[in-house]
Amino acid sequence: MDSIKLGLAGFGTVGSGLAKILDMNADRIADRLGRRIEVKSVLVRDTAKKRAFDLDPAITLTDDPSVLVNDPDIDIVVELMGGLDTARDLILDAFKAGKHVVTANKHLLAEHGLELFDAARENGVGLLFEASCAGGIPIVQTLKENLAGDEIIKMLGILNGTANYILSEMTTKQLDFQTALADAQDLGYAEADPTFDIEGFDTAHKLCVLIRMAYGMDYPLADIPIQGITSVTPMDIEFAREFGYRIKLLAHVMNVDGRLEAGVHPALVPYTYLLARVGGNYNAVRLEGNAVGPIMLHGQGAGDLPTGSAVLADVMNLARRLDSAPDNTGFCNKPLKQANILPPEQSESKYYFRFTVADRTGVMAAITQAMADHNISIAQAVQKGEAGAEGVPLVIISHETRRKDMEAMIEEIDAMDFTVEPCVKFRIL
Ligand code: NAP
Ligand code: HSE
Repeated sequence: MDSIKLGLAGFGTVGSGLAKILDMNADRIADRLGRRIEVKSVLVRDTAKKRAFDLDPAITLTDDPSVLVNDPDIDIVVELMGGLDTARDLILDAFKAGKHVVTANKHLLAEHGLELFDAARENGVGLLFEASCAGGIPIVQTLKENLAGDEIIKMLGILNGTANYILSEMTTKQLDFQTALADAQDLGYAEADPTFDIEGFDTAHKLCVLIRMAYGMDYPLADIPIQGITSVTPMDIEFAREFGYRIKLLAHVMNVDGRLEAGVHPALVPYTYLLARVGGNYNAVRLEGNAVGPIMLHGQGAGDLPTGSAVLADVMNLARRLDSAPDNTGFCNKPLKQANILPPEQSESKYYFRFTVADRTGVMAAITQAMADHNISIAQAVQKGEAGAEGVPLVIISHETRRKDMEAMIEEIDAMDFTVEPCVKFRIL
């Protein structure tokens, strides 16, 4: 039987996951395609390194990208290396050589996606990237194909497996942050530089990609407000629990009167919501289309087999039409327009504020007065702990508040003489 040949760039967590599935499900794949899929060459940094999954000796292992690009037998280059420069060069060279590309590299797509779309269009080849967002969840294809006719009113997502794993372990097992992060790294969920996971950048990269798929517009990464999970303490998790919430790292985008508002931030999610129940390395995306209504997709957001499954879906999609260029953007491959962005200071949300203050007369009155002065309405308040040099936590839950008012209020209270530590704030869903 004739076969489709892959040049696999990267043989770490995801690359070896793909190889395992190609082996495990070989007959199933051949039944679907009428052809087998074979890995012809594998590009790595260190060809001498011991691999978690043994490669067939017939496969060429190389540290030279041109081996993949210049091989006329290779139909599809699968980029699973991560990083920017080498990956970008490899993809552009593969396009020039007339090869389709599948990538899981959301960082590259967020930073250079428009250039890559243009280059793919110019060369008449495919660029598919299902695995770049939410691991095994088929969210890219859902937006591009299944909801192609809907206007997306709102999209909320837990898009980072590592951050969700850390928050889940801190919430359910009282694990400390560093231990939970080390476990996520051991399990293959984290990025090579885990700062991307815990500071929210990886989530923002994915949000950037999903906004393009949902709206056919570019919302530049630099315009997305990003807050990671390093400011979430066990104390906040406990306060949130007492108020009936779980803390999750959320990405959101919504259409506010024709303008898009997007952001990444830890948020208190009512524990009765499905999103609050998404645990471990799982991700979820909740969408609202103007025709379909609400939809929720849930599945593993990181790890070798779930992510390999999404990569394979793209490979098979291309394998079915090797001789034609797919619509990579889902909007006729036209250059993407800039999104009309709602200025972040105009966004509104309910908030959780944790002030750390001296325990003395008049503090609560001064804080509530400052909040009133900035049009912030209080829904609940609680103060805990004994008076001490380190201050006591005073937690306030607000009603809907403009970001501009919230920032001015915090600046004022942080400068007051009873404030021991800067205010910690999270959005509330
Ligand atoms: P990984 O385990 O670190 O593997 C990276 C692989 O790429 C390694 O085999 C490495 O070679 C090779 N590589 C890296 N830089 C290279 C270079 N300059 N030249 C040649 N080879 C190079 O990474 P991963 O977790 O599989 O992630 C790969 C990509 O998938 C990233 O873009 C990541 O963001 C994305 N992704 C990962 C997951 C996940 O769950 N891990 C999920 C979705 C998307 P050596 O083995 O010789 O070091
Ligand atoms: N580091 C990423 C995560 C991998 O934890 O979600 C999946 O994109």
